[in-house]
Amino acid sequence: MKKTPETRHDIDPDDIGFNDSANPHIGEMLSTRRGFLKGSAGVTLASMLGLGLSACGGGGSVSASSGSSSSSSSGGSARLMGFTPVAKSLADAFSVPVGYTASVIYALGDPLRAATPAFRNDGSDEDYDNRAGDCHDGMEYFGLNASGKPDAASSTRALLAMNHEYVTPTFLHVNGPTAGTRPAAEIDKEVACHGVSVVEIAKRDGRFATVQSSSFNRRVTGITEIEIAGPARGHALLKTRFSTTGTRTRGTLNNCGTGKTPWGTLLTGEENWAGYFKRAAGDDAKRDAKSVFALNRYGRKQASSSRYGWETAGADDHYARWNISVTGAAADGSDDYRNELNGQGYITEIDPYDKTAVIRKRSALGRFNHEAAAVSKPVAGQPLAIYMGDDAQNEYVYKFVTTAKWNAADAQPADRVATGDKYLDAGTLYVAKFNADGTGTWLELSMANPAVSGYASYAFADQGDIAINARIAADAAGATKMDRPEWCSVNPANGEIYFTMTNNSSRTAATVNAANPRAYADSKGSTNQSGNVHGHIIRIAEAGNDAAATRFSWDVYVFGAEETSPAATVNLSGLTADNDFSSPDGLGFTPSTGICWIQTDDGAYTDVTNCMMLAALPGQVGDGTSLSVASGTSTVTTYLGKPPGTQLKRFLVGPVDQEITGICESPDGKTLFVNVQHPGEGTRAADLADPGKYTSQWPANAGYGAGNRPRSATVMITKNDGGLIGS
Ligand code: FEO
Ligand code: CA
Ligand code: CA
Repeated sequence: MKKTPETRHDIDPDDIGFNDSANPHIGEMLSTRRGFLKGSAGVTLASMLGLGLSACGGGGSVSASSGSSSSSSSGGSARLMGFTPVAKSLADAFSVPVGYTASVIYALGDPLRAATPAFRNDGSDEDYDNRAGDCHDGMEYFGLNASGKPDAASSTRALLAMNHEYVTPTFLHVNGPTAGTRPAAEIDKEVACHGVSVVEIAKRDGRFATVQSSSFNRRVTGITEIEIAGPARGHALLKTRFSTTGTRTRGTLNNCGTGKTPWGTLLTGEENWAGYFKRAAGDDAKRDAKSVFALNRYGRKQASSSRYGWETAGADDHYARWNISVTGAAADGSDDYRNELNGQGYITEIDPYDKTAVIRKRSALGRFNHEAAAVSKPVAGQPLAIYMGDDAQNEYVYKFVTTAKWNAADAQPADRVATGDKYLDAGTLYVAKFNADGTGTWLELSMANPAVSGYASYAFADQGDIAINARIAADAAGATKMDRPEWCSVNPANGEIYFTMTNNSSRTAATVNAANPRAYADSKGSTNQSGNVHGHIIRIAEAGNDAAATRFSWDVYVFGAEETSPAATVNLSGLTADNDFSSPDGLGFTPSTGICWIQTDDGAYTDVTNCMMLAALPGQVGDGTSLSVASGTSTVTTYLGKPPGTQLKRFLVGPVDQEITGICESPDGKTLFVNVQHPGEGTRAADLADPGKYTSQWPANAGYGAGNRPRSATVMITKNDGGLIGS
């Protein structure tokens, strides 16, 4: 979802940020110097970098070490990064490099069972419990063998599991959404368009297509019943009329980034969920001080209206739950929905292979605006780490370290849900402090940390309270305020973790810091924008390459910029016409090639180009230099990776008024899947009768499906010579 002042019609208020804590925007200098970690990590990296990627899992046949541009595969011998970059474009089209083909395979409304009628795409369609949802987002690939059993190495049959982040109501109803009090049928449709879908794909004539009649196909929506797991299960803060024991809730909401566990399940991140709930004026007086403090910190001050008005359809429980005002008499909230907000904001685990398996919200990983969940490279006998960002202005970077040590037998478990219980319900949650000297510290979020247990602003009761109110615990611990942490991914070549910081219009010269060093002005047509307008990508190397380390080193892999942006203050990475970009959001490494795919969700450079995806072969933390960056009268020193040069290239540009998001591949590296989210979102409902006024008509204008209304969709990319994607 675009989130800049230049696109007010689609700004997401949940991204504006509610971090009023007194935390500094950068940690103080540690007595330890940058050199200590760089030295120890450097030795490990040097040995790691000698490893071919084929040794790092993923089933690919390529042998290419990080930074190399050589590859070999059975279906094409071109070099990795050998493709010709795609030019920036404002066309309402999906453009890939010469020699590649892009095909839409799964769009909003596509049926997931044989009995569901074809999509008419005129706002009259129903039965979204059995159709693709709206606003495709994060996506993962789960291989199947010919007998329909899990097979991570299969490149012929698989399940795609993907998020449906939100809805564009204009196109879901014949005449757009009803204003004011909303009909229940409209709300039911919108709730069903949220959540997750699982769809089988299989190769026919050498190319993947969806299998409409597959028994694996399923939807998880905003009303699906889900268990709370981990320290928040049964907590007083989760008691509702629906679950008086605080153990269950309904729906996974605003699902953005994803992750894939080593045991074969989907992790889905619940992002901008707070705005779905109404909270009445005067509600503060009916609650205790802790409750009011937490609601304010999570963006639901009293007198907050809801995003879609789902609570307006009446007293029925399906609609009443969207009003979190205190309305009942029970002191513990068990007869109303005052605690309903605490049921959203988690990493939720879904078994894509078994639609009867229980779905669990993994509360130990903390509650905030979740994006992706990137799992560290599993090492037998060592804990796993799961890396996560909280996407709102001035929020934080987190990691969860499992108590259980990785057992390689768990890669093919008999019970995937029980395996999730083993790794994801017990462990330690940390938040990141980025120090000015290029080191960092993981701060523990538990009662064992005196800064948390003794926090003056909020008296935590227990670990469940810390999990539910992780942002407040992170404030207490002293985390570093970042420029909207979006997706993260682990580089399979060396285990380093890449985090997109998409942009931050509230970053100023007074608040720049080493890890978020830019605040500047940029023009877009006749408008002026300011802050960290174009975003950047930070990467982290854990001390000793240990997932459980509490120290790390970091640098900025690349700064987003326009090719003409000032080189000394903005275009610090020397981007050119072939690779300039703004607002990195989705990010993922593909194991077959080690390529880092960078996707944009931009509103700042869209006067020049639609959102895009770039391919990169990055080096490692510390391969560049320190650098002084001036923002107005402030100057900070940051750590800049080696300029990417031709190892960063634009790979595709999408249609108008959309973002590119979600990335996964077949294990052979020869098919890549990406999502196009919300094309044409800026179209006004008043213009529905005139397709010529739609800001986009994709993918109908590319020959996919009925009607003219634009649709979010999954795109399959193949190389015409059958080679690796990115060669
Ligand atoms: Fe759903 Fe922060 O992107
Ligand atoms: Ca500009
Ligand atoms: Ca995103």
